[in-house]
Amino acid sequence: MLQDTLKLVQFAYFPSLVFQFDVPDAPSLNDQLLDAIQRVREQDQQGVSKSNYRDLGGWHSKENLHKRAEFESIVRHVEAAGEQISSELAYHRDYAIRIGTMWSIVNGPGAVNLSHVHPGCLWSGVYYVRAPAGCGKISFTDPRTANVMHKAVFDPQRKAPKKCWTKVSFTPTAGRMLIFPSWLYHSVAPNLADAREGGGERVIISFNLSQQRMRSAR
Ligand SMILES: [Fe+2]
Repeated sequence: MLQDTLKLVQFAYFPSLVFQFDVPDAPSLNDQLLDAIQRVREQDQQGVSKSNYRDLGGWHSKENLHKRAEFESIVRHVEAAGEQISSELAYHRDYAIRIGTMWSIVNGPGAVNLSHVHPGCLWSGVYYVRAPAGCGKISFTDPRTANVMHKAVFDPQRKAPKKCWTKVSFTPTAGRMLIFPSWLYHSVAPNLADAREGGGERVIISFNLSQQRMRSAR
C-alpha cells in the first residue's frame, strides 16, 4: 500500500510547557509553611479577592510573602527551579529568574479558583503545601482557541495522544511544584475533600516569575 512507503516526519512547535518539581524534605517544610501561612491569615483574615471566590470560602493572601523571612526556604526552591528552567530553555545567563510576587491561597470545602492568567510576568507556579484527596485538581486549557473551529473526531478505542489534548488536569500533591507559562489559562476545581477520608483545606503557595538582569549584558 502506498501509505506504507511514506515516511512520517513530525514537528511539534509552540508547545505549552508545564514543569514539575518535587521538593526534598517536603513534610517538615510544609509543617513550617502551614504555621507561617496560619500566622499571615490571622493578621489578614479578609485577604484579597483574585481568582479565589471569597463567598465560597477561598482565602487569598497579599502578594508579598517572598519578602517575609518565614518563607525563605520555599523562595530558595522556587529560584532553584527557575535556574533549571533558564538553563533548559537557553535563557541569557546574565538574567536570573526572580520572584516578583508570591502569595498563599487556602481553599476550604467547596472553594474554587476561576479560570485566569497572570499578566505581566513570564512564568507562574504553584507549590502544594497541603493537598488532601479530592481537594480540587488544577486544569490548564489549550490557549490556541482558533482550534475549536474544527475539532477532529478521535478513535473511541484509543486514547487521544497528549499532543492533541485541549485540557489537562493535575492532581495536587503535597511537596510538588508546577511551573507554567503565565499566559496559560488555569483553574481549580471545587475542594470536595471533606467528602473523603482525611478531608480539609487545600493550601498552596503561588508565585510569579520574571527575568531580572543580574549584571551588564555583554
Ligand atoms: Fe493562577
